Amino acid sequence: MTSNPGVTLSDLNARVLAACADLARLTEVPGTTTRPYLCPSTRDVHAFLFGWAARLGLSVRVDAVGNLRARREGPAPDAPTLYVGSHIDTVPNAGAFDGVLGVLLAFALAEAVQERPLPFALELVAFSEEEGVRYGVPFIGSRALTGTADDLLGLTDAEGQTVADAIMAFGLNPDHLPDARVHGQSLGFLEFHIEQGPVLQAAGAALGVVSAIVGQNRVLLDFTGQASHAGTTPMAHRKDALAAAARFVVAAEELARSTPGLVATVGIMHARPGAINIVPGEVHCTLDLRHPDDAVRLEKLHGLLEGAQHFAAERGVTLTVSPMMGEDATPMDAGLRDLLHRAAGAEGAAHPELVSGAGHDAMILATVMPAAMLFIRSPNALSHHPDEMVNSDDVEAALRVGVRFLDVLAQE
Ligand code: GLV
Ligand code: MN
Ligand code: MN
Ligand code: MN
Repeated sequence: MTSNPGVTLSDLNARVLAACADLARLTEVPGTTTRPYLCPSTRDVHAFLFGWAARLGLSVRVDAVGNLRARREGPAPDAPTLYVGSHIDTVPNAGAFDGVLGVLLAFALAEAVQERPLPFALELVAFSEEEGVRYGVPFIGSRALTGTADDLLGLTDAEGQTVADAIMAFGLNPDHLPDARVHGQSLGFLEFHIEQGPVLQAAGAALGVVSAIVGQNRVLLDFTGQASHAGTTPMAHRKDALAAAARFVVAAEELARSTPGLVATVGIMHARPGAINIVPGEVHCTLDLRHPDDAVRLEKLHGLLEGAQHFAAERGVTLTVSPMMGEDATPMDAGLRDLLHRAAGAEGAAHPELVSGAGHDAMILATVMPAAMLFIRSPNALSHHPDEMVNSDDVEAALRVGVRFLDVLAQE
C-alpha cells in the first residue's frame, strides 16, 4: 500500500516544501496568500490533502467544522489515537508556512512510517480555523474537537455571515458539530509549527521544544464622541473619539515596552466618518494582549482598560469594551516534551525549550489530552508576512525528529 516504496526523508522534505509553495497560491486574493476560514480556496487545499491521504490508503473526511481528518487505524479498535496536525487558514497576505507546514509535516510523517507497525492509531488533522481573523475569535477548528465550538456558531463576520452560515455555505451541517469531537482514548497531540520569532535563530538551533504557550486576551473597544466641524468646533468643545483612542494606543505601547514579557497590539482601528474636515465621532479598535504569566496579563489588561476609560472621559467620549476571548497560558505536556527532547537528542539536534508567543491549536487540544509542539527556526524571524521563510535542512530535521518521536512513543 506504499504510495512510493523507498521514499526517503529527503524526498518527503522536498515534497513538503514544494507543497508549501503550491498551497500558498490557493488564495482569495490573487498575488497574496489569503485564506480565511472556509473560504472557497479551502476546498483546493482539501483536494490536495485528500489526494495525499488516498495515496497512503488513509480514511479521510471533512468534519462539520471543516477540519480535514485523515486516519490510520490502530492495531485494535480500542487502540489510543495520536493526533498530529496544524491549521490551513491564514491571515491576510500571509507567508507560506504558518500552519500549512505543520499539516504537511504530519502527512509526510505518516508516509515515513507507513510500513512500520504502530501500537496506536494516527489521525492527521488540518484544522479549518486557527487565526481568528474572520470572526475575531481564534481556534474554531480545534475548539470543535474539544466540544467547545457550539457557542461560536452565532458569531458574525464583517459581512454579517455567522459561523453557522459559513459552515452551511461550505456544504457542511453545523448541527453535526458533535461529530467533530474527539472520541475514545487519546494518546496526545503533536503540532509542528514554524517559530515565527527570533529565539531559535539567535540560539543557533534548528528546532525547539515548546514549554508553554502564552495567554492572551482579545478585546473590542468602541469610542463614541461627537462628529463635528473641524474648523468651527473649538478644542474645548470637542468630543474627539480618535484622540481618545490614540492616547490609548500609545499607553498600550508604553506599558508593553516597560513590562518584561508583555506584548500589546492594536491591529484594527476604524475612525468615522473619516473626512479631513470632520472631528472623528466614532472609533472602533481592537486590543491583543499577551504575557506568559496570567496574573500579570490580567492586571495589565485591567489597568489599560481603566486608562482607556479615563482618556475617553476627559474628552466627553464614551467607551464600550467588549471582550472577545481570553485564553490562559498553557504549559505543554511534560511527558511528551520529554519524548521530543529524547527524539531530538537521538537525532543529534539541539533542542532548546522556548515559550510560544503565538497562539496554537495545541493550547486548545491541551485541555483534553497531552499536547506538545516542535518549533522550526524562522531564519528571518518574520511571520504573518509574505516573506516568512524556513531553511530546508531545518524542516528535514523536524521530520527526522518526528519519526524518532513516533519510535520512542511506540516503545513506551
Ligand atoms: C495567530 O497566529 C496568533 O497567535 O494570533
Ligand atoms: Mn499558526
Ligand atoms: Mn498565524
Ligand atoms: Mn497562531
